[in-house]
Amino acid sequence: MAAPYDYALPMQDLSGKTAVITGAASGIGLELANQFGAAGMNLVLADIEADALDAAAADLEAAGYPVLAHQLDVRDLDQVRGLESAARERFGNVHLLCNNAGVGAGGAIANSDDIEMWRWTIDINLWGVIYGCKVFLPAMIEHGEQAHIVNTASMAGLGSAPMMGAYNVSKYGVVALSETLTQEMQIGKTNVGVSVLCPAFVATSIADSQRNLPSELVDAAPVASADMQSAIRAMVAGGIPTEVVGAAVLDAVLDNKFWILTHPESHAGITGRADQIVNGVNPAAFAGFGAT
Ligand code: NAI
Repeated sequence: MAAPYDYALPMQDLSGKTAVITGAASGIGLELANQFGAAGMNLVLADIEADALDAAAADLEAAGYPVLAHQLDVRDLDQVRGLESAARERFGNVHLLCNNAGVGAGGAIANSDDIEMWRWTIDINLWGVIYGCKVFLPAMIEHGEQAHIVNTASMAGLGSAPMMGAYNVSKYGVVALSETLTQEMQIGKTNVGVSVLCPAFVATSIADSQRNLPSELVDAAPVASADMQSAIRAMVAGGIPTEVVGAAVLDAVLDNKFWILTHPESHAGITGRADQIVNGVNPAAFAGFGAT
């Protein structure tokens, strides 16, 4: 099957190329590292969690992959610039950037005590992705070799479940950024393909995102009810395995596919929402917490 668009040839030979993955110390990011490492890529693993990052790097090195582990906070532009320099210094040109680091945080919009939690969520999930694109793209375009950016959004970027306002806003932003970017890369006839990853629940540590909460924000955490916390934990634990997501991302990079949807059962919700918009139907209250 032909690639859905042909302005950038797909990156069909990954061997010896370099992948930078944020949020690589656990969950989806770690699986991306496993799959791109197995495909022969040099791996730059970036994460805020030092111990988990060291453990991931040791495992991937033991599997025989060339690895650079780089601790950073994607909320900090200078640290993202430092990641780009470190990757280039170690491996030369960067060919694949996975802007994947993210956190999940819930809370009602009418709650005014959790403004800083909103900022934390949007700073990581959206600004981290914006920084990644802005910092890495100029050199990726300039080196001219086939390159690709994968931005991790969510089904929460394609539909809005209640009690997840900050997360939804951040993920809609990632979808909008990615759709805009892929068109700009086509207009510029660049060598850079773009994909946006929109999974529903995946079995990872995202329900424990607050493990990475900066100490000054610990008191700003929303007080989610125990019922809600355990319902979210159960939905994440019952999610699809990361291996399925990693395989879908690998396929999208190899085939230059923009949309990466991993949950076919969610398609009806996407088309249903589009129908509601054009038919002027008001959103109804959602039964459940929705997808992360
Ligand atoms: P995870 O918690 O297992 O992995 C997230 C990684 O991001 C962790 O290693 C964490 O240390 C890192 N991270 C957090 N804050 C950071 C920061 N400020 N700077 C650098 N690294 C930071 O969770 P998961 O599920 O693997 O999350 C990966 C991405 O997938 C996120 O963007 C998430 O929103 C998205 N996603 C997850 C879904 C799920 O059900 N697990 C569903 C849809 C999207």
